[in-house]
Amino acid sequence: MSRPPSDAALPPGGSSAPLLDVRGLCVSYGRRTAVEDVSFSLRQGRCLGIAGESGSGKSTLARAILGLEPAVSSGEVLFRGRDVLSMSARERKAFRSHAQMVFQDPYGSLNPRLSVGDALSEVLRVHGIARGAAALDRARDALASVALGSEFLSRKPHEMSGGQRQRVNIARALCVGAELLVADEPASALDVSVQAQILNLLKDLQRRRGLTLIVIGHDLAALRYLANDMLVMRAGRRVLLADAATATTAPGEPYTASLLRAVPDVERALAERRGLNDGSWI
Ligand SMILES: Nc1ncnc2c1ncn2[C@@H]1O[C@H](COP(=O)(O)OP(=O)(O)O)[C@@H](O)[C@H]1O
Ligand SMILES: [Mg+2]
Repeated sequence: MSRPPSDAALPPGGSSAPLLDVRGLCVSYGRRTAVEDVSFSLRQGRCLGIAGESGSGKSTLARAILGLEPAVSSGEVLFRGRDVLSMSARERKAFRSHAQMVFQDPYGSLNPRLSVGDALSEVLRVHGIARGAAALDRARDALASVALGSEFLSRKPHEMSGGQRQRVNIARALCVGAELLVADEPASALDVSVQAQILNLLKDLQRRRGLTLIVIGHDLAALRYLANDMLVMRAGRRVLLADAATATTAPGEPYTASLLRAVPDVERALAERRGLNDGSWI
């Protein structure tokens, strides 16, 4: 395949084509527009933070990027140049092994009846990657890369902490060979002491494995630690796309500046949410 002629704007040494290129994406539920004309591109090995208040369209955008959102009304999502939105069922299945989602609630995304070994084996079987002993070997490797020992293969979700469950979710995405991980508020349902561990793990995977990341959160300051670039959403629209340092220090955009000032409110909201969650899964 020939390369596009104009690579001049890209920094030297970077791969010329972005891994992901989102162009003019719109998602509408009836008359309500949840995502309006959002564009950005992401190169392999980079981390994009997506911030914005609750209801600003972050999760809808994430689902649309992974081809999981049926309400996309226009736009393109190009993954290695192929439009995710117009893939055949077969292409979509292959794409799913390259791009995976990690959700906010680590308990809700695991089948309570399956052990970790069975859950990971199942996803490997569905993707036609491995079965039986080979699947368990691969599952063991994936667990090791999220710092969980092979004793976790026999654990069920209720036998693990929230942080361990989220590690298992990340391992499940890694074991099918995901190169792009879209993590929708991956730490915000977890205890504060565990949140940093999960964000650290993602950062570490980006560094060690060259994983490309999209991490959604409403706390700009926490995202800054992880992200190379930051996209700020407001009411479905992109209001800022900048490098993470600029976005979190001198964004030059009033809404983003107001989000930065609102951090104490976010902390309070997190504390309240933790209170609600405590009895249910810790
Ligand atoms: N399935 C749906 N049907 C109708 N409206 C929806 C649906 N999902 C999300 N929305 C609306 O789209 C907007 C963006 O939601 P969401 O993407 O969940 O925001 P965020 O993740 O930033 O909190 C909200 O107004 C929400 O109510
Ligand atoms: Mg959301």
